Amino acid sequence: MSDDIFPVSEALKQSSYADNQRYLSLYQQSIDDPDGFWGEQAKRLSWSKPFSKVRNARFTPGDISIKWFEDGELNACVNCVDRHAKATPDKVAIIWEGDDPTQDKKITYAELLEQVSRLANVMREQGVQKGDRVIIYMPMIPEAAYSMLACARIGAVHSVIFGGFSPNAIADRVIDSKAKMILTADVGHRGGNLIQLKQNVDKALERDGTDSVEKVLVLKEAGNDNPWSKGRDLCWQDELAKASAECAAEAMNAEDPLFILYTSGSTGTPKGVVHSTGGYLLYAALTHHYVFDYHEGDIYWCAADVGWITGHSYIVYGPLANGATTLIFEGVPTYPDVRRIGQVVDKHQVNILYTAPTAIRALMAKGDLPAQDSTRSSLRILGSVGEPINPEAWHWYHDKIGNKQCPIMDTWWQTETGGVMITPLPGATDLKPGSATRPFFGIQPALLDADGNTLEGAVDGNLVICQSWPGQMRTVWGDHERFEQTYFSTYKNYYFTGDGARRDDDGYFWITGRVDDVLNVSGHRLGTAEIESSLVAHPAVAEAAVVGYPHDIKGQGIYVYLLPTDGTEITEELTKQVRQWVKDDISPIAAPDLIQWTHGLPKTRSGKIMRRILRKIAANEYEQLGDTSTLADPSVVDALIDNRKNR
Ligand code: WT7
Repeated sequence: MSDDIFPVSEALKQSSYADNQRYLSLYQQSIDDPDGFWGEQAKRLSWSKPFSKVRNARFTPGDISIKWFEDGELNACVNCVDRHAKATPDKVAIIWEGDDPTQDKKITYAELLEQVSRLANVMREQGVQKGDRVIIYMPMIPEAAYSMLACARIGAVHSVIFGGFSPNAIADRVIDSKAKMILTADVGHRGGNLIQLKQNVDKALERDGTDSVEKVLVLKEAGNDNPWSKGRDLCWQDELAKASAECAAEAMNAEDPLFILYTSGSTGTPKGVVHSTGGYLLYAALTHHYVFDYHEGDIYWCAADVGWITGHSYIVYGPLANGATTLIFEGVPTYPDVRRIGQVVDKHQVNILYTAPTAIRALMAKGDLPAQDSTRSSLRILGSVGEPINPEAWHWYHDKIGNKQCPIMDTWWQTETGGVMITPLPGATDLKPGSATRPFFGIQPALLDADGNTLEGAVDGNLVICQSWPGQMRTVWGDHERFEQTYFSTYKNYYFTGDGARRDDDGYFWITGRVDDVLNVSGHRLGTAEIESSLVAHPAVAEAAVVGYPHDIKGQGIYVYLLPTDGTEITEELTKQVRQWVKDDISPIAAPDLIQWTHGLPKTRSGKIMRRILRKIAANEYEQLGDTSTLADPSVVDALIDNRKNR
């Protein structure tokens, strides 16, 4: 593995913001003098009131508190839009590429400012005030970005919900955040399919406890006749036409929440990850600048969805704070066919492309076809995010998409971290396929054993972060105790990532995956507890256990063990029904790949399900089941194995 090294090219060493020497010296400075380093970096943002204090953060048990630039004031929208609209009004801020390849458009910074201001005025007129929560449930169209920025402009806290989520998932988030308003569209387009967004919102708002929502602003994309709730529903186009194109921005404290983004954990329902205005924006901007080596004039494309943190930090906030041109893609890499990514790159002359291993593996399965009919010669830098990229996929991406000319930035981070944490830099880091390499400025990773001892040298361990960084989440919305419990209770005085990692002799990090009950399916995060609770709500299911198993394209697939309720007849039809149930309840992403009915689950005598065993069986690794002597009834294991082998 150590032979497989891709050194930094001479060209990038010269042209990039940081060669290795500069990386090392900036990194050292960021660790030795965080206040000095971040105080200086914060100058890349415009502050309406300067801060006097940089960092005030402690990971002290019982008293977790994270604050950056706490007496400074700024507005995220002004930083992402106004200052560029003033300096470079005609520069393209957003290139939009539709699901339908004949559809695209360009939005300049001046146009962006106007659209965002109009929308912000509409929201204000409808009673949205600083601190109110607004849910955004939109297709991947420029209006999704306008929505986020308009919220930021008036100090409303947005919570974007991925367009693939179900009415139930929307309702959960409305109830938890007590949102006042929802921004949506009648329909969305994805991979040639129509998604009925407005209908999903209507269904969500039928649920008890959702009456905090006073208004629903609906962009009429298809102009179809949705049922219209009078007094609640408003037409986007009509309201914006009436609104003023000028809107004063709210001065926000650096620690005011910018947004909430719900994500799955190992227990309970998804939690609202809260990100701040100042620290988050600075961290998103600085990482975007260095990791993608964004230079004036570059066309930058992050092919994520704005429903995920990657879309927040690297489609919207990071690039726009840097005055970049960011491409928003409505579609999927496989529609109309697998050549789409290359075609979009050529059409818009994309220089930097950021996507996920699951997309790369899906294309890789089609051999050379994805690289046909495009040159991709404009590309300079590639990025990867969401899960470990296996060396095979790395090489395919490097060879076929990047023509062996572009280094791959394998960026490790999380919804909670706000921005990239462990990553190569284009001009500084020699690459090893499969390794996220080294920490970004200000990040001090460490590896601990199960007892919390710090491990030195080349070793495997649990990945923790020792000190706060500006992009760190501040709390769980409405539940600071859960914040502490989830991230700071496993290891005292550290932020625990939930990931395992190996450090090699060169100090490079290799992320090995989650060590908790969180699944990573096609780069999407799902809690096993969340899927289990959906399953047991089905009348035919008495008990459910969910584990991940290796899946060629998705990275991890969802393997479900089900105990039927008494008298249930197990049929193909029922299995299908159960799968559909989870799809409807959570999202198609959460649909089980394999369902195994069983009459017993391996449990300890105290009744705890032994997932370790279920994982092994799901992975077809029967020889390494480990100690089964503590099981209440060891014979269930043999039954499960027989059943698995017969599939
Ligand atoms: C989990 C976070 C960060 C945006 C996308 C996912 C896994 C993420 C990598 C990578 C290995 C990775 C981790 C992490 N992960 N990037 N480059 N190499 N693993 O955000 O949904 O919050 O999931 O994704 O397991 O904990 P998320």
